[in-house]
Amino acid sequence: MKKKIAVIFGDGIGPEVTQQSLNTLDAIAKTYAHEFEYHYCLMGADAIDKTGSPLPDETVETCCKCDAVLFGAIGHPKYDNNPEAKVRPEQGLLKLRKALKLFANIRPVATYAALQHLSPLKAKHTESVDFVIFRELTGGIYFGNKTWDEAQQWAADECVYHQNEIERISHLAFQHAVQRRKKLTLVDKANVLETSRLWRKTVKEVAATYPDVTVEYMFVDNAAMQLMINPKQFDVILTENMFGDILSDEASVITGSLGLQPSASVGEGVALFEPIHGSYPQAAGADIANPLGSILSAAMMLDHFGLAEEARSVREAVDWTLKHNFVTKDINPVNFYLTSTVGELISEYISNKTRGKTHETDVEMRGSTII
Ligand code: IPM
Ligand code: MN
Repeated sequence: MKKKIAVIFGDGIGPEVTQQSLNTLDAIAKTYAHEFEYHYCLMGADAIDKTGSPLPDETVETCCKCDAVLFGAIGHPKYDNNPEAKVRPEQGLLKLRKALKLFANIRPVATYAALQHLSPLKAKHTESVDFVIFRELTGGIYFGNKTWDEAQQWAADECVYHQNEIERISHLAFQHAVQRRKKLTLVDKANVLETSRLWRKTVKEVAATYPDVTVEYMFVDNAAMQLMINPKQFDVILTENMFGDILSDEASVITGSLGLQPSASVGEGVALFEPIHGSYPQAAGADIANPLGSILSAAMMLDHFGLAEEARSVREAVDWTLKHNFVTKDINPVNFYLTSTVGELISEYISNKTRGKTHETDVEMRGSTII
C-alpha cells in the first residue's frame, strides 16, 4: 500500500514525539512492504515565527492532497497570558479542523495494568476501563460569533448547532457503539441550554435507527463526576465541542498518563491523527517527552487505512515497552528511557519482534538512572 502523509510537527515537544511516530511508520512500511511518503508542513507558533500565519495556505493545500495528517502539538507560552494577541497558534489548528471538515474527534480511553499506580483513582475503579469519547469538533461555542464591545466592558461567544451537524457525528458514534458494548451516553446540559435540547432531540431521532444500542442521557456536571467515581459504566460518550474538550482531558487522568492518549479527527475527507497532550514547552528539545500518545495516534491512522494487523503490531510493541518498564520520565521518574530510545525500541520490536531475554538486558543498558 502506498500512502501520502502530511506531517505537521507543530510546537514544543511536537517535533520529537512525531519523529518517533515516523520511525515507527517506517518500521511498519519495511516489515509489511508498504510505502509511506511524508509531506512536511507548518502550523502553530512555529508557522507564525516562520511565515506570520498560524496556518499557511500551503499547509491546507498539502493536507488536502494527502491520505492522512499526522500532527504533533500546538501552543507557546508567549501567547497564553496575552489577551491582546491577535494571532495565536491555536487558531491554526481550529482553522485546519474547519478546512478539512473534521467534525468528529475520537478519543479512546483505556487503562493499562502497568500504569495503574499512576492514576489518582483507586485500582478497583480503573481496572478494565474502556470507552471512547466522540467529541463534535467544528461547531458550537468554538466557532460561533465572537464579540467584544468597543469599551471592552463585555464579550460574547455564541454557541450554535445545526441539526445536520449533530446528526452526522451521532451516526458515527452509534455505528461505533454497535461494534462495541452497544451503549451510548449523550452528555449535554439540556436542563439549561437550548443547543443541548437540540442535541437531545436529534440524538433521540437518530437512536431510533439503532435499536440494539442502549442510550443514556447525562448532564455534563454529573458526567464529570461519574467519570471519576465509576468510569467503567461508559462505552461510547457522545458530546459537543466544548464539553468534549474538557471531559477528554479529565478522562485521561483515569489512565494515569496524559502522554499516552491518542486521538483521531475524522470528517468528510482526509483524517488527522494527534496525541491529546499539549506542547509541553518546558520539555521541548530535552528528549524526555512520552512519544506513546503520538505513536498510538499513528496506530489509529493505520487502522484508518484498513491496516489492522499493522496497527496491532504497533500496539503490541507499545504494550511490550510498558510491561518491561522501558518508559519515559513521566511514567518512571527514576529509571527512565529517553523519547528517542523508547521510539527506537518500538521500531526494533516491530522490525524483528525480538522478545528474548538477551534483547531485554541489552535494552536495560540504554536506560538513564538518577541516583
Ligand atoms: C484539544 C486542544 C485544542 C482544543 C486547542 C489547542 C485549541 O485543547 O485538541 O483538545 O481546545 O480543541
Ligand atoms: Mn483540549
